[in-house]
Amino acid sequence: MATPQTSASLFSPDVLFDNPVFAGGIGLASIGAAAAFARRGAIVAFGATRRRLLVNVEISKQDPAYPWILAWLSQPREAAGFIASRITRIHNLSVTTTTTHTKGPYAGGPVNASFFLQPGYGRHVVKFGNAYIAVSREKHSTANMNTGEPHEIVQLTTLWAYRHTFEGIFAEAHRLAAKANEGKTIVYSARGMEWAPLGDPRKKRPLGSVILDDGVKESIVADVKDFLSRQGWYVDRGIPYRRGYLLYGPPGSGKSSFIQALAGELDFGVATINLSEMGMTDDKLAYLLTKLPKRCLLLLEDADAAFVNRRQRDADGYSGASVTFSGLLNALDGVAAGEERIAFLTTNHIERLDPALIRPGRVDMMLRIGEATKYQAGQMWDRFYGDEDNSGSRKEHFLRRLDELGLFGTNPDGTPSNRRTSTAAIQGLFLFNKSNMQGAIDMAQGLIPRNFEEEDAASDAAHK
Ligand SMILES: Nc1ncnc2c1ncn2[C@@H]1O[C@H](COP(=O)(O)OP(=O)(O)O)[C@@H](O)[C@H]1O
Ligand SMILES: [Mg+2]
Repeated sequence: MATPQTSASLFSPDVLFDNPVFAGGIGLASIGAAAAFARRGAIVAFGATRRRLLVNVEISKQDPAYPWILAWLSQPREAAGFIASRITRIHNLSVTTTTTHTKGPYAGGPVNASFFLQPGYGRHVVKFGNAYIAVSREKHSTANMNTGEPHEIVQLTTLWAYRHTFEGIFAEAHRLAAKANEGKTIVYSARGMEWAPLGDPRKKRPLGSVILDDGVKESIVADVKDFLSRQGWYVDRGIPYRRGYLLYGPPGSGKSSFIQALAGELDFGVATINLSEMGMTDDKLAYLLTKLPKRCLLLLEDADAAFVNRRQRDADGYSGASVTFSGLLNALDGVAAGEERIAFLTTNHIERLDPALIRPGRVDMMLRIGEATKYQAGQMWDRFYGDEDNSGSRKEHFLRRLDELGLFGTNPDGTPSNRRTSTAAIQGLFLFNKSNMQGAIDMAQGLIPRNFEEEDAASDAAHK
């Protein structure tokens, strides 16, 4: 009984506190510990409160909403009171400048610059409705492996009570972005392994400004619109919601222009890849097709490039840095291909393509966009000179002239002329003779393609 008593007294705190040296030391240490504990506690408590009371939204640069939010932040907004206006003024701005050359009569006419101010990196406070929102825009030290661009985020923080304002902010930012792009077509191209807008959004090209042969345009437009209205049908049947079109024919017949105009008509963007472009590989193509921007027509120009490469690969077993036939097919309908897609393929060399391309989902509809027909020449005339040529008599004159020149495939005597012209050439002629109908008629001979002219000269010389 005595032993435990002793040990208890030995180790009881009383013994220590009775000792003045020990007491002072422990006292100090415990004050320090308590302070440290209190501070840690405060931080934890603050963190917890912060987590409980605040809401955070993080938007990364990869997200389509990123530029919208930046644009929304840089909106001028009227501040309520003096203090509010001091707090919410953005002091750090960064600038994005775009320049456009206005083409004057002199080379390199004046340059128009437009500046787009955005909140710079760092922290800002903005007010939306009744809520104050802390904004932090940060550039990270890590970078996107594909593009080498540093990761960037914008973080919005507000009180939990105001969390619903975020919906309002995103809706407003989206509305602003939509308004800025109203009447515009965004063209995306592949930059590295990512899609990036190619320059500023362009003004929509009116569908009426592209003149294809009678009914061709209407048939494509109707088919695309029909497809767009049938998403449910595809989903119900478990079929990938994809449709492909192949436009082929000589250069300068309006294939690319038509697709651009169609995108405008549907309020879509255009995501374009040129398959003959240097450095476009099978892997890159497949990857890009899995990550198509939303509401975009996919435009694959020069589809024949993939088929030429197949031949090369057959010959030497190596395809180089370019797209191959199997690469194109895989990208179009491999497992990784995006679920929803409207694709347009164009080629100037239909004879180089492989029939395997014409399968549902790859290419469902194939159309030749050919040399200018009489119908197209007449329509183009109306677009350029319709106001001045009320009676249409000048148009008749012009078309008769093209007939005489054999530019619609037959000579006046009915024999085949094997000679045609392109709509691009007719547009060029009209542009050269703005509001000068007679000039256009007089210069119609210039529509004869070069190689035929040489033949003419040769046969003329032979006759002499
Ligand atoms: N059918 C057409 N209707 C209106 N413009 C055309 C037509 N065909 C060609 N053009 C004009 O000629 C140029 C080249 O046309 P583009 O669409 O690039 O031809 P493609 O893609 O068939 O080679 C453009 O400036 C376009 O406006
Ligand atoms: Mg083209």
